[in-house]
Amino acid sequence: MAKKDLIDLADLSKDEVLEIFSASAELKKKLKEKKQADILKGKTLVMLFEKPSLRTRVTFEVGMFQLGGIAINLDPSTVKLGVRESIYDAAKNFSRWVNGIMVRTFSHKKVEELAEYSEVPVINGLTDLLHPCQILTDVFTIIEKFSLDPSNPDLKGIKVSYVGDGNNVVNSLVQASGLLGFDLSIASPEGYFCSKKILDAAGVLAKTSGARIEVGTNPYEAVKDADVVYTDVWVSMGKESEQSKRLKIFKPFQVNKKLFARAKKTAFFMHCLPAHRGEEVTDEVIDNPNSIVFDQAENRLHVQKGILSILMKNS
Ligand code: CP
Ligand code: NVA
Repeated sequence: MAKKDLIDLADLSKDEVLEIFSASAELKKKLKEKKQADILKGKTLVMLFEKPSLRTRVTFEVGMFQLGGIAINLDPSTVKLGVRESIYDAAKNFSRWVNGIMVRTFSHKKVEELAEYSEVPVINGLTDLLHPCQILTDVFTIIEKFSLDPSNPDLKGIKVSYVGDGNNVVNSLVQASGLLGFDLSIASPEGYFCSKKILDAAGVLAKTSGARIEVGTNPYEAVKDADVVYTDVWVSMGKESEQSKRLKIFKPFQVNKKLFARAKKTAFFMHCLPAHRGEEVTDEVIDNPNSIVFDQAENRLHVQKGILSILMKNS
């Protein structure tokens, strides 16, 4: 059977996403009931982080442990992927030892190249372009909060509003909206929109799923009557040299009490974390009872266990 990677949500069918959600819900339930789920007994995941991480690092490592396997974290300065040796050679080496590779890096092409040559599944733990594990987790969290069936959730009519930088997180969110059918209203400053190519592809899928995807520059318009308000940092990893310019440009896009009040009274606040409190979000919003940021963080563990159990069961 051909190996399956998780690089880009555009590579997944709706059924494959629902299979991940079902497996994740099952594994979450098992963990809460303190039942063993050692589906990956004796298996190894290698993890390569060329950017910092808290959640992705811990949840993949704990997830592998709970599934009966182990995770090895490699120091990027010793591996020097593509510098000390070619990505091809590294991929062929890994394929002889381990059952899966998780990689976080800058260039999306690097992950695609690793996946092309690897004989074991490759999982994208964030690139400059996409953050698929995050968004699968976030949709799973929305499904839970709206008490929907993870194996067949009807997300139509749920309005998610994303305010801020058109980065990796919102690119993956656009793909999920197109595929799964929830509405998405985005507000970003001029010049900081998400990928046009990804928006166009999601627009095609939306014809089937029923999603309405809108992009504009007015955060008050985007958030109006939203069921979920989502934001992310204004300065993503790798963009630090643009910090002072970005902090000025993004100021009107802060999710504060006034902006959040435009959403439905019952609206949830979401953030992939890490948050820069006082920049893209104020304390009063992120600490509000409707904030579900730590539920999202917890679910990284359950959803990635779902992903690992599916991708690595035959590797
Ligand atoms: N949300 C997320 O991916 O967190 P880390 O950068 O800490 O892994
Ligand atoms: N957009 C952020 C997400 C961090 C999880 C970044 O790339 O830094």
